[in-house]
Amino acid sequence: MSNYHIKHLEEYYQVYRKSVREPENFWEEVAEEHFMWRKKWDKVLSWDFTKPEVKWFEGAKLNITENCIDRHLATRGDKTAIIFEPNDPKEASEHITYKQLHERVNQFANVLKDEGIKKGDRVCIYLPMIPELAIAVLACARVGAIHSVVFAGFSSTALSTRINDSECKMVITSDGSYRGAKTIDLKAIVDDALEDCPCVKSVLVAKRIHSDIGMKEGRDKWLQPLLDKASSDCKAEIMDAEDPLFILYTSGSTGKPKGMVHTIAGYMVYTAYTFKNVFQYRENDVYWCTADIGWITGHSYIVYGPLANGATTVMFEGVPSYPDFGRFWEVVEKHRVNQFYTAPTAIRALAKQGVDFIESHDLSSLKVLGSVGEPINEEAWHWYNDNVGKKRCPIVDTWWQTETGGIMVSPLPFVTPTKPTYATLPFPGIQPALMDEVGEELKGNQVEGRLCIKFPWPSMARTIWGNHERYRETYFSAFENKYFTGDGALRDEVGYYRITGRVDDVIIVSGHNLGTAPIEDAINEHPAVAESAIVGFPHDIKGNALYGFVILKDTGESRVQDNLRKEINQIITEHIGPIAKLDKIQFTSGLPKTRSGKIMRRILRKIACKDISNLGDTSTLLNPEVVQEIIDNAI
Ligand code: WTA
Repeated sequence: MSNYHIKHLEEYYQVYRKSVREPENFWEEVAEEHFMWRKKWDKVLSWDFTKPEVKWFEGAKLNITENCIDRHLATRGDKTAIIFEPNDPKEASEHITYKQLHERVNQFANVLKDEGIKKGDRVCIYLPMIPELAIAVLACARVGAIHSVVFAGFSSTALSTRINDSECKMVITSDGSYRGAKTIDLKAIVDDALEDCPCVKSVLVAKRIHSDIGMKEGRDKWLQPLLDKASSDCKAEIMDAEDPLFILYTSGSTGKPKGMVHTIAGYMVYTAYTFKNVFQYRENDVYWCTADIGWITGHSYIVYGPLANGATTVMFEGVPSYPDFGRFWEVVEKHRVNQFYTAPTAIRALAKQGVDFIESHDLSSLKVLGSVGEPINEEAWHWYNDNVGKKRCPIVDTWWQTETGGIMVSPLPFVTPTKPTYATLPFPGIQPALMDEVGEELKGNQVEGRLCIKFPWPSMARTIWGNHERYRETYFSAFENKYFTGDGALRDEVGYYRITGRVDDVIIVSGHNLGTAPIEDAINEHPAVAESAIVGFPHDIKGNALYGFVILKDTGESRVQDNLRKEINQIITEHIGPIAKLDKIQFTSGLPKTRSGKIMRRILRKIACKDISNLGDTSTLLNPEVVQEIIDNAI
């Protein structure tokens, strides 16, 4: 047996040891016992990190949708695969069974074929979080087309860059989208983007907001009439294990976005196996990940991982603040959610609102809480644990990346004892290494360095679309024979990992390396602070000094800002030491954030350095207006 489902800590260690000692046997057993293959592989793994080239399950033939849908029909045909929870709580939610999902994916796949989409073609999907998004993703996989989902909050310029980079032939979109109280004219954004995209031959348009939109003759078609005509029978295209499944763009520290390419078999095996264990999913559980399918979290842990396990997965169209800040808890209560997976930025926003919104809802169905996307600070961890999980739901702090395809370091709930702000232990098959500045591996515990992975895992990205050299350079050139994550991490006395943040955010002050994340954690402990971001700026004596941008909680009481500055530095001194004290503290109403909620430190760094002549592209920010406010009040 491959120990597909790990239930005890002892078992975890056994499985982990096996995965390192005999990685090929280990993954072969997982793959063999839990998936549907049209043909088995000739070779489990071949790899060479210098090229870099990685192949898993070479020679195998499969279709991922047969694994995510068809094989469940006999035993789970009437089970709900997807629960769609609309933006407006007054609109009915929708339960799509595996049988219905099968029909709808097949119809959509037939429409794609009728429109001339073939194996290997790229299809851009620019849709809100409505069922058509998951169905379109699966329909592409069914016919062997490579999907490139672009988050439907991106601007037309961001969209056209992505469409052109991978030369998509088709765009799938909707007339518009709902986001809280707002409606967004998605189709108008697509029209704008397509002015510059000669590669796009057709556009399929789903109806969501029923607005009056322009349709371009010969290019645009309404989706529903095509689906209505299409047969619900569509043979799955038989694919090679290493054929691309999708491209997903992620921003680099420089340059245009990187189109990370994931291939079918390894991605399927790894996302399914991690989903099962990281969420300890049981047959009748209802699982909810609040991410958007436009991000890797949604690809791996709303669509593929859950469906490959025959799970029930919730798709939420709305935002946490609409109609009020109780919405998440209302949805948990309504659908009796068992596993809830969200981002620290959402947790902090909700914590700021107080607990009344939680207390009016029954959250007793919850068993496991998850966190992803950035380091979770201690205060947010405790708030989540105390108020949402009522101290009985383990928090899985899952560290991973678009590039890794699946969760790499995480506690397994009820298996791994948790520790606030620690992602804890590597998943079976993952061999982390911490490296020092000169490229030596730091052995043993209680060390801190750059986080690398020294052995391939099945769901790693295989390349950057159209630029293999950039892939090599970005991830495989910093440390010999290792994948470099770009993150720093420490390993504590028992071998638990704590991700300390991007190493590009490390600031050296008076010769000391200071991570921004731990300082921000400390500041966020102050009862008046909602959120903060630290950057470095040049200093005559220390080399660099620290500049803090701080958002205060709306507590109603007015505080003397100078006193607050002193208190903040006092807290930092207590948590880290006087070396980490801030030279400048600017109070602000907001921080520039990417659409996925990450703080754009690059902009803050420039403002702190008084170098605002070239702030770069701020148009893709969630809140571009805040940039001017920060510039105006800069110290
Ligand atoms: C950060 C999201 C600390 C990290 C799945 C990583 C985290 C980047 C965590 C990838 C976590 C993600 N703790 N940091 N639990 N999860 N990160 O590609 O810096 O959007 O490199 O993938 O987010 O972000 P991405």
